[in-house]
Amino acid sequence: MAKRRAYAPYSRFRVGAALLASNGRIYSGCNIEISTFALTICAERTAIFKAISEGDRNFKAIAVVSDDPDYTPPCGACRQVLMDLAGNIDFLMVNGAGKVKIVKLKKLLPHAFGQRNLERTRKTKK
Ligand code: THU
Repeated sequence: MAKRRAYAPYSRFRVGAALLASNGRIYSGCNIEISTFALTICAERTAIFKAISEGDRNFKAIAVVSDDPDYTPPCGACRQVLMDLAGNIDFLMVNGAGKVKIVKLKKLLPHAFGQRNLERTRKTKK
């Protein structure tokens, strides 16, 4: 459903995401492309920004689908955003045949930078 709402006139690569919050709510998201390209937002980030702005802070899993027959892995920016805002949730990639591959976010972004790195520096440096 979210994939149908994708705004992807440049790449024609439509992506849909569904983010499951711990309270059972599901936030959908699609990619939205901007003519200057760099401002484009992926489906995953649309979904989690929607959720945060609606007041949800705890999440269980996110599923992503595109028209590509193969699995669609998240880009680097989305990995960092999801790790910061959702933590080590399940990332479900759905391929064209409807097969699901589930990977923990930590596996997709090992040795992640995070809030704790900033806290240590703030305490020790002026
Ligand atoms: N895209 C997503 O929305 N999610 C992904 O996981 C991979 C890539 C989008 C961004 C852009 O609009 C298009 O796919 C091609 O990169």
